[in-house]
Amino acid sequence: MKNLIFSNGDEMPILGLGTWKSKPGEVYQAVLWAIEAGYRHIDCAAIYNNETEVGKALNKAISDGLVNRKDLFITSKLWNDCHRKEDVKKGLLKSLKDLQLEYLDLYLIHWPISFKKGVGFAESREQFYTYSDVPIGQTWQGMQFVKSDGLVKHIGMSNFNIAKLKEVIAVGGNGPEMNQVEMHPYLRQEGLVDFCRANGILMTAYSPLGSGDRASSIKKQDEPNLFEDKIIEKLAAQYRLTPAQILIAFSIPRGIAVIPKSVNQERINQNIAAAKVELKKEDMDLLLNIEKQYRFIDGTFFTGFHSPYQLSDLWEF
Ligand code: A2P
Repeated sequence: MKNLIFSNGDEMPILGLGTWKSKPGEVYQAVLWAIEAGYRHIDCAAIYNNETEVGKALNKAISDGLVNRKDLFITSKLWNDCHRKEDVKKGLLKSLKDLQLEYLDLYLIHWPISFKKGVGFAESREQFYTYSDVPIGQTWQGMQFVKSDGLVKHIGMSNFNIAKLKEVIAVGGNGPEMNQVEMHPYLRQEGLVDFCRANGILMTAYSPLGSGDRASSIKKQDEPNLFEDKIIEKLAAQYRLTPAQILIAFSIPRGIAVIPKSVNQERINQNIAAAKVELKKEDMDLLLNIEKQYRFIDGTFFTGFHSPYQLSDLWEF
């Protein structure tokens, strides 16, 4: 499988298993099936509330000799309630304990949004910190510390726009190495991709399949379905693949890691096979020129409840 390469030469498999929305009771088996199928990159986060179970699966795979720790690439993410400099390490240590790991390959600030300690999802003004309370540069310094401690090999963020990335770069010292954002043919993020490339920041595409299994509370009823897009369906028929495989294959020539979530063995196998698919240039051009643009994870769940944050803190419009 193709790898992305960090500036120190470390490699990250371009395809990983997503675990957002994978329920405890399902994710243990999913991780084991994935490792058996050849996945070596698993994308996790504290807020997915399933890291304990992912940890059990990683421990089982390593102790059974299915895989060596050094051959796995494990990502986790710092939740919004651990953004104060002194809380970053606490958040990380909890994920390491749950995942039964001594280090992470990659640790990301999950969102440029801060909550008070212990808040899962802020539901009142008092549960938020503002950027004056906790500047994002402070969180970044906490991330730099845990990297220098050797607890994580690489650091970065998720859901950061160009303005926020510039703020972090201005901190100096170790710069961001990864920005994980929603990406698929309906949200190609060209401007952000160009900025990240120019600044040596690798990228990962989340929700590459449109995350149709989101809770109805964060899903619009009339949202489009990538699997039913006419161009994607046509390419799937032409290559004798599924629409999901076309969506995964789309990320590979762009040099962007992709983390489709599945808890189904057949689909886990199908998705890893897609990392080998080479779409012809003219077919990539078709996908890169689809007119419809749509953001599935719109961030409005952080801007209600008298939140001090606005959508412009998340996305460039
Ligand atoms: P399941 O976990 O039952 O396989 P995303 O990665 O964008 O968050 O999308 C995840 C959703 O896509 C889940 O509902 C997942 O269901 C489904 N999914 C994953 N792989 C495939 C596939 N190859 N074909 C169809 N649906 C898929």
